[in-house]
Amino acid sequence: MEINKVGVLGCGLMGSGIAQVAATAGFDVSVLEVEQKFLDKGFAGIEKSLAKFAEKGSIKETPQAIRARLHGTTSRQDLADCDIIIEAIIENVDEKKKMYASLDPIVKKEAIFASNTSSISVTELLTAVKRPERFIGLHFFNPVPLMKLVEVVKTIATASEVYDAAYEFGKKLGKVPVRTSDKTGFIVNRLLVPYMLDAIRAYEEGVGSIEDIDNAMKLGCGYPMGPFTLLDFVGLDTTYYITHVMYDEFKERRFASPPLLKRLVMAGWYGRKSGRGFYDYADPANPRAGKF
Ligand code: CAA
Repeated sequence: MEINKVGVLGCGLMGSGIAQVAATAGFDVSVLEVEQKFLDKGFAGIEKSLAKFAEKGSIKETPQAIRARLHGTTSRQDLADCDIIIEAIIENVDEKKKMYASLDPIVKKEAIFASNTSSISVTELLTAVKRPERFIGLHFFNPVPLMKLVEVVKTIATASEVYDAAYEFGKKLGKVPVRTSDKTGFIVNRLLVPYMLDAIRAYEEGVGSIEDIDNAMKLGCGYPMGPFTLLDFVGLDTTYYITHVMYDEFKERRFASPPLLKRLVMAGWYGRKSGRGFYDYADPANPRAGKF
């Protein structure tokens, strides 16, 4: 099963990162968006990132040569000859299923369908297509061009040869693939989400300030970011959504949203992307920790 052409659905933070990594690895990539302006925004981010890598000498080709393998489109037909489709649209079951159902009759029969979902059941998504044995999860991490991991998710319906091909594809992208199955949260979020939620509870219980908890985990454990910096980086709305899916699945307190997370999301304080979360990013170079 040879993969040459890659289709990416969505050109947001994750979709553009996946497209960039695939084009850098030599694949021909088509990215589907609903409007040209989203493609323009995503491709501008890719160009900035490629320029940084070129400056550091960490890519073999010029950014222009890599960029030439990336094609943006708003037409589903342009994905018909892709060998793998990686979906990275909004984390919403109905939207994702609608997207897969509309592409299934268009994209060639042998193509693999993959989802970058972090918490939605891959098994639920595959019910939208007539090729359930060719459906997998490929979960990347933010920022995709820098983070080395990809979780390769098998469902009870996935054919072994499809799973193996997806695993090999992950390696060709320059990532380290890990094998996991369709259990909510897979490996990383199963462990990371309770950790981040526990940091919020520790703060609520007066264990330490936001800055001190962040510094403690950064300097005491060698983590690249403390839990609150990471929460703001991932997005509080995204994390809050994930807590719902995980709590619904496991019914355990460790996956439930602490009240403070809910309050911040209700206030529209989603973290770095909205300029405010656990930190205030009015001066992005010097984020100020909040006191709640
Ligand atoms: N492309 C190219 N270069 C980039 C880049 C990008 N997209 N983003 C950052 N860089 C560069 C920066 O310019 C910087 O370059 P210089 O050293 O030349 O200045 C370098 O990478 C390091 O960046 P920073 O100095 O800003 O910060 P850092 O050293 O802390 O590294 C980080 C940034 C790699 C993001 C690091 O902080 C880190 O690993 N953080 C943890 C991220 C993490 O845990 N991600 C997973 C989140 S969970 C998830 O994604 C899944 C989910 O389902 C929720």
